[in-house]
Amino acid sequence: MSKKAVADFCVVENSPLNSTNFLIKLKAPLKLPVFQPGQFVNVDIKGTDEIFLRRPFSIYEVDYKENTLSLIVKILGRGSKKLTEIREGEICSLVYPLGNGFTIPQKGEKVLLIGGGSGVAPMLFLAKVSGLQPENVNLLLGARTIEEHVDVKKYGEYGNLHFSTEDGSLGEKGFVTQHPIFKNNLHMFDRVYACGPDVMMRAIAKEAKAANIFCEVSLENLMACGFGVCLCCIEPTNRGNLCVCTDGPVFNINDLKW
Ligand SMILES: Cc1cc2nc3c(=O)[nH]c(=O)nc-3n(C[C@H](O)[C@H](O)[C@H](O)COP(=O)(O)OP(=O)(O)OC[C@H]3O[C@@H](n4cnc5c(N)ncnc54)[C@H](O)[C@@H]3O)c2cc1C
Ligand code: FES
Repeated sequence: MSKKAVADFCVVENSPLNSTNFLIKLKAPLKLPVFQPGQFVNVDIKGTDEIFLRRPFSIYEVDYKENTLSLIVKILGRGSKKLTEIREGEICSLVYPLGNGFTIPQKGEKVLLIGGGSGVAPMLFLAKVSGLQPENVNLLLGARTIEEHVDVKKYGEYGNLHFSTEDGSLGEKGFVTQHPIFKNNLHMFDRVYACGPDVMMRAIAKEAKAANIFCEVSLENLMACGFGVCLCCIEPTNRGNLCVCTDGPVFNINDLKW
């Protein structure tokens, strides 16, 4: 496990991807450690006294040469909104690297990576470092509308893309679990990975369990400290009550009491 660090990063880019999602690129003052896909950072959001606790965000991309990491931030409440207002050149304190990561697939395996909403962020990183040929990687990305799908060209470089939208404006109409690649072809995959809303991951876990397929999900329980002290992120599992911030956020579905 890498040592945790807290450091002031400099914002080098903050670009809107659409009306609610922003790409925030941060330059580290110290050489970045090697991150695992699924790990996250806990961000101190300055500029208001009301936002006391740090907010967790998955690592979207890392550039070790530039010494930068990027996050996709979706506006949900006050903290994420304030973070998307940060300007280039401003400083942002991060605690990193936090949590565990997804199990890296073995050479030649076929994988299905499913991201819903802001849960798409760790899936790009996983696809990149999986070491698999793009033909063995299938990315199923779900959002409410076409407008909420972000940076899709980039995902296409690492695998076959499949889309679903609740209103049918891109790809299949409905939830990711209604998409034919999931509904009819789950047996084709050696491993399934998912990150997104709780209800989506539970539905995926149910099907993957029934089909006896290796499946890991990245939980987004509410967090405060991010390093196992406050116990506010507890998830009851078959291994006892575990902290999502330190024992997760990635869990094998067989460990979850779902
Ligand atoms: C490990 C991890 C990785 C994450 N990665 C990303 C990411 O890459 N991109 C991204 O946009 N978001 C990500 N999130 C979610 C992000 O942390 C929350 O959206 C953010 O903390 C909300 O803060 P806020 O101040 O905007 O909202 P708040 O004002 O704190 O909350 C607004 C509302 O949203 C609810 N809420 C807050 N956090 C969550 C959550 N985690 N899950 C469900 N409901 C929540 C609150 O209960 C409240 O009802 C991640 C969360 C975790 C735990
Ligand atoms: S967020 Fe504090 S213990 Fe997990």
